Amino acid sequence: MRIAVVGATGMVGEIMLKVLAERNFPVTELIPVASERSVGKEIEFKGTKYKVVGLQTAVDMKADIALFSAGGETSLIWAPKFAEAGTTVIDNSSAWRMDPTKKLVVPEINATELTKEDKIIANPNCSTIQMVLALAPLHKKYNVKRVIVSTYQSITGTGVKAVQQFENECAGVEGDMVYKYKINRNCIPQCDSFEDNGYTKEEMKLVNETKKILGDDSIKLTATAVRVPVVGGHSEAVNVEFSNDFDVTEVRTLLHNTDGIVVQDNLDTFTYPMPRYAEGKNEVFVGRIRRDESQANTLNMWIVADNLRKGAATNTIQIAEYLIAAKLV
Ligand SMILES: NC(=O)c1ccc[n+]([C@@H]2O[C@H](COP(=O)([O-])OP(=O)(O)OC[C@H]3O[C@@H](n4cnc5c(N)ncnc54)[C@H](OP(=O)(O)O)[C@@H]3O)[C@@H](O)[C@H]2O)c1
Repeated sequence: MRIAVVGATGMVGEIMLKVLAERNFPVTELIPVASERSVGKEIEFKGTKYKVVGLQTAVDMKADIALFSAGGETSLIWAPKFAEAGTTVIDNSSAWRMDPTKKLVVPEINATELTKEDKIIANPNCSTIQMVLALAPLHKKYNVKRVIVSTYQSITGTGVKAVQQFENECAGVEGDMVYKYKINRNCIPQCDSFEDNGYTKEEMKLVNETKKILGDDSIKLTATAVRVPVVGGHSEAVNVEFSNDFDVTEVRTLLHNTDGIVVQDNLDTFTYPMPRYAEGKNEVFVGRIRRDESQANTLNMWIVADNLRKGAATNTIQIAEYLIAAKLV
């Protein structure tokens, strides 16, 4: 497979290269792509050095698959050009996620919807992926009615410049600010920009993408997304009301038997998921699984995942692996 990585010099792009190498993805030629600023820079992949190229050069190289993580604007303009050249695009930005003609895929849940005709495939938002992976098996069994989610999101979710702001603050150095406020020793109740309804884009992604992936518009969902001074991954406190009652032990078993989920839930040993320990891992970790005693048929859980891995690079590469296995590319 000839693989283009668009945004190869960025936070997600760097992890894409790592995950491709770790999973022994069948790369015969790597085409690292970034902005004009980075053209000519060298990127190392599995011991070989590759020169970064610009977008038009990459289109002309007609890769089999292009993994995009270079922002929404780049995706809107360039994904169709790659697709026209015969390259299948898997896009990490929000550009195509809610387009009714594009599939929004978490492989463990809905990869089987993909066909040869899908030339631009959308990868969901990082905070959505980790939540829906846990919701999917529970929805099948008990039917999700309503979800209340509060997120505690890693700085790495805002890209390299945000990590630089955090490091500058920790070192007491003045530098460019990506967030409106200092992030060190703070919590910022704003991830992405605000929409007219008073919610942030990140919050509305959780609402809209969940319904699309689970294929159920009747699910009610409300979200508060918060940026916290953490780098290893996103954490989420998730409260779920079901139509049907459940048994907590059975919930644990269902989650334990779901591909891509690791249940970490033992109060005797103080075992629960934390971003520091999820960092660098491909799985979604679920713990603090307990009944909400204030309301019938309602569950609380705590979900953690490395946003750069399952929330971005790993999920994208799993989609590519599926395309190859199903002979769709
Ligand atoms: N971070 C996350 O947790 C996460 C999770 C899911 C999805 N995403 C999405 O992934 C994308 C990248 O995020 P990131 O965190 O990796 O950001 P980042 O660290 O800021 O990296 C951005 C990458 O995009 C490239 N780029 C920027 N403008 C470009 C242009 N006009 N043409 C070509 N390449 C361009 C940059 O190249 P230069 O180095 O040349 O500037 C760099 O490689 C975003 O769409 C983001 O929403 C991020």
